[in-house]
Amino acid sequence: MSSINEQPNIKIMIKEIKTIGVMTSGGDAPGMNAAIRAVARACSYYHIKCIGFNRGYQGMIEGDADVMTARSVRNIIGLGGTILKSARSKEFRTKEGRAKAAEHLKEFEVDAMVLIGGDGTFTGGKIFSEEYDIPVIGVPGTIDNDIAGTNFTIGYDTALNTVVEAIDKIRDTASSHDRLFFVEVMGRDAGFIALNSGVGAGAEEILIPEEDLGLERLLESLRKSKRSGKSSSIVVVSEGDKIGKNVYELADYVTENLPDYDVRVTVLGHMQRGGSPTCFDRTLASRLCVRAVELLLDGERDVMVGLVNNEVVTSSFEEGLKEDHGINKELLRISDILSV
Ligand code: F6P
Repeated sequence: MSSINEQPNIKIMIKEIKTIGVMTSGGDAPGMNAAIRAVARACSYYHIKCIGFNRGYQGMIEGDADVMTARSVRNIIGLGGTILKSARSKEFRTKEGRAKAAEHLKEFEVDAMVLIGGDGTFTGGKIFSEEYDIPVIGVPGTIDNDIAGTNFTIGYDTALNTVVEAIDKIRDTASSHDRLFFVEVMGRDAGFIALNSGVGAGAEEILIPEEDLGLERLLESLRKSKRSGKSSSIVVVSEGDKIGKNVYELADYVTENLPDYDVRVTVLGHMQRGGSPTCFDRTLASRLCVRAVELLLDGERDVMVGLVNNEVVTSSFEEGLKEDHGINKELLRISDILSV
C-alpha cells in the first residue's frame, strides 16, 4: 500500500492518455453516480476525453458506450443506482468476451479504464489489463465493504444508515408486541454491514460469517436476555453467516427451543442497495475517482485506490482481493457488553 501525494504530476499527463473509459460493474451501490461524475469532471478538468460504458464489462463487450462531458453528469451526485447501469458479465469471463471488449476499447480510442465495482470487477480488470496491456484503476464500489485495500467502499455508509433506520422501525413493532426479530442484512461473504449496523441499532445478537457463534450460544444468549427482563430482541444476521441455518430456519429453531419467544423474520434485501448516497459516500467517491484519473495521467496503472486512515492510497489488486478484509471483531465484544 502506498500513500499518495494529493498533487497531480501534470508533466507526464497529456502525452500518454487522451481518452479514459469508465464503467460500473457488479452489485450497484449508492455513490456510484458521484463516482462517475468525478471521473467525467476530472477528465474534463484535465482536457481528457471520457467515455462511459453501459452495463459494466458487458457494455465493453458490446461497444455500448457514450461520450461523457462535464455537463452530461450534472445533478447526479445525489442519485442512487448508477446512470451507467451495472451487470455481472458471464461473457467477460471468457477469452472471447475479453477480446471483443479490447476491440471496442480500440474502436473508441480508449487508452485506460476506471473500473468502479467490487471483487469481481477487480478480478476481471486485473486479467484484462494483463492480457491487453490496458492501464486500469479500480475504485471500490460495493455496499459489502469487503475490499481489503480500503477502510470504506463506496455505498457502504449509505447502506449502513439504511439498515439502521430499518432496524429502528422494526424495533418499534418488536417492542410493542414483545417479539424477537431476526433481521437479515446483505453481505454474501462479509459481515461488515451486520456488525456495524447491529452495534448502531443496539441488536441483542449479531451473526456474521467471520465468527461462528454456534446455535447453543445463541439460545443461551436469548435465555439470558429473557432473564434480564428484556421483552423484545433483535438479532441481526448477515446473509453469509455460517451458523448452518438460513434466517427462516433459525427462527423455527428458536421457536422450537424457546417457546416463550414470539419470533418474526425480516429480510431487508435489495432496498439496502438503493437510495440517495450519504455525504460520506459522495465525498469518498469524489476523492477516489479524481485520484484514479490523476493516477492514470501520472502513468500509474493496475492498482486500486482506497481510503486508509483518511488518506487516499493505492494497493495492488491482490492486496485488495485478500480474503481477510480486516473486520473489527472487537465490535462483537462491544455488542456483548452493551446488550447486557
Ligand atoms: O452488492 C453486493 C451484494 O449486495 C451482496 O451482499 C449480495 O449477496 C449480492 O450483492 C446480491 O446481488 P444480486 O442479487 O444482484 O446478485
